Amino acid sequence: MTKVLTTRFDLKGEACDIDVYIKTGGYAALEKAFREMTPEAVIEEVKKSALRGRGGAGFPTGMKWSFVPKESKRPKYVVCNADESEPGTGKDRDLMRWDPHMLIEGMLITAYALNARDSYIYIRGEYWYIKEILERAIAQAYERGYLGKNVLGSGREFNLYVHPGAGAYICGEETALLESLEGKRGHPRLKPPFPAVVGLYGGPTVVNNVETLAAVPWIISNGGDAYRALGTEKSGGTKLFTVSGHIVRPGNYEVPMGYPMSKLIYEDCGGIRNGKKLKAVIPGGSSVPIITAEEVEKCGLDYESVAAVGSMLGSGGVIVMDETVDIFETTRNLTHFYHHESCGWCTPCREGTRWLQKVFERMHRYEGRPGDVELLHELADKILGKSFCPLGDAAAMPVQSAIDKFREDFDRRIKHDLVQIKMHAAD
Ligand SMILES: Cc1cc2nc3c(=O)[nH]c(=O)nc-3n(C[C@H](O)[C@H](O)[C@H](O)COP(=O)(O)O)c2cc1C
Ligand code: SF4
Repeated sequence: MTKVLTTRFDLKGEACDIDVYIKTGGYAALEKAFREMTPEAVIEEVKKSALRGRGGAGFPTGMKWSFVPKESKRPKYVVCNADESEPGTGKDRDLMRWDPHMLIEGMLITAYALNARDSYIYIRGEYWYIKEILERAIAQAYERGYLGKNVLGSGREFNLYVHPGAGAYICGEETALLESLEGKRGHPRLKPPFPAVVGLYGGPTVVNNVETLAAVPWIISNGGDAYRALGTEKSGGTKLFTVSGHIVRPGNYEVPMGYPMSKLIYEDCGGIRNGKKLKAVIPGGSSVPIITAEEVEKCGLDYESVAAVGSMLGSGGVIVMDETVDIFETTRNLTHFYHHESCGWCTPCREGTRWLQKVFERMHRYEGRPGDVELLHELADKILGKSFCPLGDAAAMPVQSAIDKFREDFDRRIKHDLVQIKMHAAD
C-alpha cells in the first residue's frame, strides 16, 4: 500500500531532525514548486489531486485556495488548524510529532501558491510538547533558509509562527480560531464572507487542517493525478483514521480512500476485543451520526460511501463499540461534552444543549418520563440547522441517529420508570 503521510512514522521522531527529513526526500517538493512551478500551477495540481479538507467538512482544497483573491490590499495568510479537539481523533498529533517538517513544507508550498508571507499553526493547548517539537523544527528551517528572507533565492520572505489554544473545542471552528488567534474570545464569525476572502486581521486567509497541508508535498512531488488515483474519483488519496474503543489494536492507520471499514476494523485493527461482537461505530469523530454493525459491513472509507449509510467521514476518528455498550450512556456522555463546549453565542445551541442534557440526566437516574425519548429527538431537531455554527448540528445529529438506530437502549430508561411508578402506586 502506498504511504503518503506515514512514511516517516517508523523513524519514531528521527525525522524531526531536518537532516533526516532531507535525506528521506524532504523539502524536494518545495524546491520543485519554487523552481519549476508557478503559484497557479501549484493550485492546479492540488485541484487535480481531488484532495479534500481533512478537518471534517471535506471541502475540496484546490477549490478553496482558488477562492483567495489574487490581488489584495491586505496581506494574505495561511493558517494551519492543529486544534484537534474532536473526540476520538488523534491523527494530527502523530503527524506533527513524527514528521513536523512535512507540515512545514506543506505550509510553505501553500504560502507560495497563495502569495502569503506569514503563516500560523494554531495548536491545541494540550499539545504543548508538540508545540516544542514544531518550534525546534521551525528554527532549523530558518537556519537552512527554508524560512526567512529570500527563501531558496526566490527573493520572497516566509515566516511561520506557532500559537497555542487554551482548551476550547469551538476554537477548532475556523472563524472562532481566527478570532482566538487575533487575541479575542473564540466566537465563530458570520459566513460569508468566508476566510478565503476576509480572514485573519481582515486579510484573505486559507485555513486548512494539519493532514490536508501535510499531503501537499507528496502531491507536488508525484503529481495530482497520482494522488487522486490512490483513492476514489471524488475522494482522492489516502487518509489517516484514528481507531479507538473496543478494538484489539487501536491507533492511527493510513489507508486509501474507499478502503472497506470492516477490513480496517477486523483485519488491520485485529477485530473486537475479548471475542465480543461489534454493536456500533461512530465513523468520523463524535460529531457525526452513529452507524450499526450491519452498516459497517457495506461502508467504504470515503466521503460518499459514509454518506450513503447516513453518516459522515468527518475527521476520521473511528470509535468502535462492542455489544456491551449502552448507546444511551454514550450519547449522554457526548451531550455533556457539547453542552460544556457550546460557546453560548446563539440560543438554539446554548439552550438546546442544556435542555438535552437535563433530559438525559433524568433518564440516566431512571426518572425518565413517558415521551422523553420523543422529546430528545424533537429538541435535537430544534438545534439542527438552526444554530449559528456547525457545533449545534454536531450536538444534535448523534442524538437523533442514536435514537433512530438504538431505540431500545433509550426505551429501557422509560420502561424502568413505568415499573417504578407502578411500584409506588402499589405502595
Ligand atoms: C465545532 C467545530 C470544531 C472544529 N474543530 C476542528 C479541529 O479541531 N481541527 C480542524 O482541522 N478542523 C476543525 N473544524 C473544521 C474547521 O472549521 C475547518 O473546516 C477546517 O479547519 C478547514 O480545513 P480543511 O479544509 O483542511 O478541512 C471544526 C469545525 C467545527 C464546527
Ligand atoms: S452553535 Fe453553539 S458553538 Fe456555535 S455559535 Fe451557536 S452557541 Fe456557539
